[in-house]
Amino acid sequence: MQSGHTARGPLCESLQDRVASLVGMQHAVAVDSGSSALMLALFSLIQRGPVKRVGIPAYACRALLHAVRACGATPVFMDCAGDLRLDKAAAQAIAATLDTVILVHPFGMIEPLVAEAWPCPVIEDIAQAAGGAFDGKPLGCFGDISIASFYATKPWGGAYGGMLLSNDARIAEDVRAMRYADSAGISLPYAGNHQLSDVHAALAMGRLDTAGAELASRRAMAEKYDAWIADSPAHPLNCGGTANYFRYVIRVADADRSIGLLRDAGVGAAHPVNVPLSRLMGLPCKGAETARQECVSLPLLAAMSDEEERIMYRALTTCL
Ligand SMILES: Cc1ncc(COP(=O)(O)O)c(C=O)c1O
Repeated sequence: MQSGHTARGPLCESLQDRVASLVGMQHAVAVDSGSSALMLALFSLIQRGPVKRVGIPAYACRALLHAVRACGATPVFMDCAGDLRLDKAAAQAIAATLDTVILVHPFGMIEPLVAEAWPCPVIEDIAQAAGGAFDGKPLGCFGDISIASFYATKPWGGAYGGMLLSNDARIAEDVRAMRYADSAGISLPYAGNHQLSDVHAALAMGRLDTAGAELASRRAMAEKYDAWIADSPAHPLNCGGTANYFRYVIRVADADRSIGLLRDAGVGAAHPVNVPLSRLMGLPCKGAETARQECVSLPLLAAMSDEEERIMYRALTTCL
């Protein structure tokens, strides 16, 4: 604000360089949201060949479904297994029929299928999982394209924003053109105003400065939750030591009932996904429906006051 330069400028460039080096990709293009990054990623692939059938998880954020539909493609739902990662056999069975696949690290837990070979381009979505790692490598380096979100509630959130990353210079170039309608050529399949302002880039950089310490705090808090629910029938979904602990997801017999009890006790419990994407499109998937019935997402905040921690302790030791 003091510099007087609030439009896209040098801070956006710095944010791009910083995130590219954090996730190990060569090219980064800052945009106005993670949703835009997903849509622009798909449009950049449309430049290279047909993108008619896009595989997406059945139990995931709605932004995926809207991005696929905005590009005129058909979403093909991939069901989840009991741990909310994709059902590997089912996903592999349809892989050859897909033109593109979007893989999400659900609620910050690691989706190991990002490291598998796919017969189509892979978009790796690290909106919820930024800062995590798998197999010794940072999340976000596995796909042909990866996308991140800087929305306030996300682990790298400043206030608003997103990013597309790739090792393919032409993809980055096309997305750079598509994010700025005024200079985009009409041969592109799409263009709009999707730039990130330097104000939002500055806020995201501020969050990146604290992201490592926040992750350590969330991990320590998750260990407390583990102990507090150990005697209950609820069981936590395994994050794995290198996940980013964005949310603490548990499986219970009746999620609606547990969410009601936890909320009465002062905890902001919620369904990890309110309506499975597959159900929204009238194509319900069994694993996603079971996840909707049984999974509860608990807030895992980096900074919890003693009083908040006491509320959480009381709720987890009595409501489950
Ligand atoms: C997995 C996932 N991808 C993409 C997005 C979209 O990001 P944004 O809110 O920046 O548009 C979200 C947002 O909730 C998300 O959870």
